[in-house]
Amino acid sequence: MKLAFFDTKSYDVPGFDRYGIPAGVEIKYFEPNLNEDTVSLAAGFDAVCVFVNDTVNASVVDALYSLGVKAIVLRCAGFNNVDIKACQGKLRVFRVPAYSPHAVAEHAMALLLTINRRTHKAYIRTRDFNFSLQGLAGFDLYGKTVGIIGTGKIGRVFADICKGFGMHILAYDKFPAQGSGLNYVALPELFAKSDIISLHCPLTEETHHLINADSIAQMKKGVIIINTSRGSLIDTEDLISGIKERKVGAACLDVYEEEGDFFYEDFSGHIVEDDKLVRLISMPNVIVTSHQAFLTEEALDNIAATTVNNLVRFFQGDPDTSTEVCYKP
Ligand code: NAI
Repeated sequence: MKLAFFDTKSYDVPGFDRYGIPAGVEIKYFEPNLNEDTVSLAAGFDAVCVFVNDTVNASVVDALYSLGVKAIVLRCAGFNNVDIKACQGKLRVFRVPAYSPHAVAEHAMALLLTINRRTHKAYIRTRDFNFSLQGLAGFDLYGKTVGIIGTGKIGRVFADICKGFGMHILAYDKFPAQGSGLNYVALPELFAKSDIISLHCPLTEETHHLINADSIAQMKKGVIIINTSRGSLIDTEDLISGIKERKVGAACLDVYEEEGDFFYEDFSGHIVEDDKLVRLISMPNVIVTSHQAFLTEEALDNIAATTVNNLVRFFQGDPDTSTEVCYKP
């Protein structure tokens, strides 16, 4: 069984090597993203392995199908970049539902601690023997209210971490987790009462631009917004306006609406064309990391194990339905 692995990065291969590729499975690692221009690389393969910034829209699905590809194995949890409806009756789709909720939740907290206590600024200052504390004051997280939107695997780990800091937690989820002990409130209350808001829901039509001018207007002045979920949960222009108006106190962004054009590549020698991204990065109260929240050794090992398992079980005729993504109208 032959797997075409798209958007390969240096950290991908060791995880799969460590896990071990079973006999009968052959993986070819391709550097380009999967999209309309590169889909022909999948000719002769039984399945494709894709990540967050590969484009698997209806035309790519049709092209894969006509090339004889039978399955898409996502090596990530989110599947908003795959047209699941278009896959119906053509390609089976599997994902890695959980590789390390701890990795993502811990990164969300790392971003919050950094932006609040300005460790990113302090690091640069002391390297230059500048020991001034000017402008480095943060606030205690203890006693503050954090609003968590999406209380699935990652959101709940993040809630536990916040509890450890002595923070109050307000939660919102379309499907509240029974028995979680979380204090669920309606979104307007969460927006109005939270000092910090962290997004942990998937990107769907319903959650697209959940954070926009209207929701920002309902928030506390100085609110810190953390997004380690998907870029399009936030209307970037509205976020920039909120920061410029001093309504939003800070933003911690591991994901960005147009990240597919930039993230995971080195643009340090280029003029970056995306003015919104450049504006965000220019702001002292914004931290951007390039979709790295998942990047721990444990997560990479789990990604490899689940992806190989998804592939092998599908081709053995015993697909793992717990990891399968099916179209839900
Ligand atoms: P999960 O499926 O365990 O939890 C998602 C939660 O969101 C569920 O409780 C669900 O009920 C809730 N939800 C669904 N629709 C909602 C809505 N309209 N409003 C509010 N809540 C809603 O997923 P998990 O593993 O916690 O991951 C959350 C998200 O994190 C993923 O969808 C993915 O986009 C993102 N992610 C980001 C990574 C990174 O490296 N930055 C890595 C892994 C995931």
